Amino acid sequence: LNISIIGVPMDHGQTRRGVDMGPSAIRYAGVVDRIEELGHRVTDEGDILIGQTDGSVDTETNLRNLKAITKATEALGDKVFNVAEAGNFPLVLGGDHSIAIGTLAGISERHENLGVIWYDAHADMNTSDTSPSGNIHGMPLAASFGHGHEKLTNIRGYSPKVKPENIVIIGARSVDPGERELIKEHGIRVYSMHEIDKMGMHAVIEESIKYLKEERNTDAVHLSLDLDGIDPMYTPGVGTPVPGGISYRESHLAMEMLFDANIITSAEFVEVNPILDEKNKTADVAVALIGSLFGEKLL
Ligand code: ARG
Ligand code: MN
Ligand code: MN
Ligand code: MN
Repeated sequence: LNISIIGVPMDHGQTRRGVDMGPSAIRYAGVVDRIEELGHRVTDEGDILIGQTDGSVDTETNLRNLKAITKATEALGDKVFNVAEAGNFPLVLGGDHSIAIGTLAGISERHENLGVIWYDAHADMNTSDTSPSGNIHGMPLAASFGHGHEKLTNIRGYSPKVKPENIVIIGARSVDPGERELIKEHGIRVYSMHEIDKMGMHAVIEESIKYLKEERNTDAVHLSLDLDGIDPMYTPGVGTPVPGGISYRESHLAMEMLFDANIITSAEFVEVNPILDEKNKTADVAVALIGSLFGEKLL
């Protein structure tokens, strides 16, 4: 593969400082060498420019830092679209999860029937009406299937980016009431920790692949991986940790199976916050998982 790395030092989607250093931490953990060793060609496209903002929640919209986020996600969407158009695999490094709005805006424009795997402790399906925090990093998935403020749903001038029935959420264990409603209303496929415990990760990924490929007939699949999906004992450097998460080994198995199935066409790794981390542990896990996603095997 020809892989284009795009850094997005975004921290305006939430209130913990430091997640803007995520792309640096992941680069420092050796992401480029790790992928090149697998025989891929890597181009580091550098970082998207993130503007300044005052951090306040707009009283009218209940959205924190809306302008700075729409500006950056538009720029990210352009970049992702262009690298994909050139035949490269976009690998986006965050940054808080609000950036997925931009990644999906760039990706989806090139596909008829995009699928999304959302690997996360959270559903990220709040809207300006349901959000308990006003934090846009809790809203990107809803925005991507057309729910929420028009400024967020309409990045790159079209909506939705993905059909709700083409979404698979894996690892959920913290879901707000409004999000639960949307999940039910749209029949979104969710493998919460309950299903992962009960079925095992192998069956969860096997079913997810079958669902997206055979049942939904997707023509591309984006992996949006929030490091807080994994248990905080392995990835403590995240802003909204939730105990009882996916294990290190289960996560590797998931990435290896996705590689073997050859279905992932773009990916992003988000929410790495080196200020909250222990010796860059969380970025190290991100890089190890990226290795598995791109074909790393012991033998
Ligand atoms: N559900 C909470 C909220 O909307 C937390 C969201 C956490 N999202 C994330 N990408 N870490 O504020
Ligand atoms: Mn999360
Ligand atoms: Mn709807
Ligand atoms: Mn998330």
